[in-house]
Amino acid sequence: MSYFQKRENVNLYTDMMLDIDNSFVINEVEKVLPPNSTLLELGMGTGLDLLSLSKKYRVLGSDYSQLFIDDFKLKSDLDVCVLDAVSIDIDRKFDCIYSNKVLQHLATEDLIVSLSNQFRHLNENGITFLTLWNDNYREEFEFDGQLRFVYYDRATIEKLIPQELTIEKFILYSEFESNDSMIVILRAKLA
Ligand SMILES: C[S@@+](CC[C@H](N)C(=O)[O-])C[C@H]1O[C@@H](n2cnc3c(N)ncnc32)[C@H](O)[C@@H]1O
Repeated sequence: MSYFQKRENVNLYTDMMLDIDNSFVINEVEKVLPPNSTLLELGMGTGLDLLSLSKKYRVLGSDYSQLFIDDFKLKSDLDVCVLDAVSIDIDRKFDCIYSNKVLQHLATEDLIVSLSNQFRHLNENGITFLTLWNDNYREEFEFDGQLRFVYYDRATIEKLIPQELTIEKFILYSEFESNDSMIVILRAKLA
């Protein structure tokens, strides 16, 4: 069983999110994505961002942890489902696929697969909007070795982006420390 599939870890994360201000990232979405666009969120966790994004977009939330999905359904009627961010096994396309601090938990080879699968689920000219931790590229395991964190720098990200996607914007921002985070916005190339 993986880290976010354990009740105590989901509760810990939910408590940690109580005071989080997500407005910087949401604002960056709104700069690039027209209102009323369709949006799939991968790894929604507590659904804080999904609730904000639902004010302007037609959203579907998802997470691979049934626990986060069950908790969210107790507080909202928005559409949500269990979905793995690597395989993205869903028969729908979206204008935007959004993930906030999710894909750093994947091994790098799975991040590459995820980005290809995200592309397959984008409408023409759609975007992938993701955030990651910004630091020298390396992989670490935290929380007693139960949870993988991969830190990326811009040069590494540029090398692993599938050729069907192009970098539209790359923004550094600060969550806990100066420039500890990055937003990467990728756009599907026109056929
Ligand atoms: C650090 S939390 C971020 C949650 C939320 N995006 C936020 O900003 O608060 C990572 C989330 O990614 C989810 N996650 C991790 N690996 C995943 C995967 N392979 N597929 C889907 N979700 C995954 C976890 O269950 C958790 O909800």
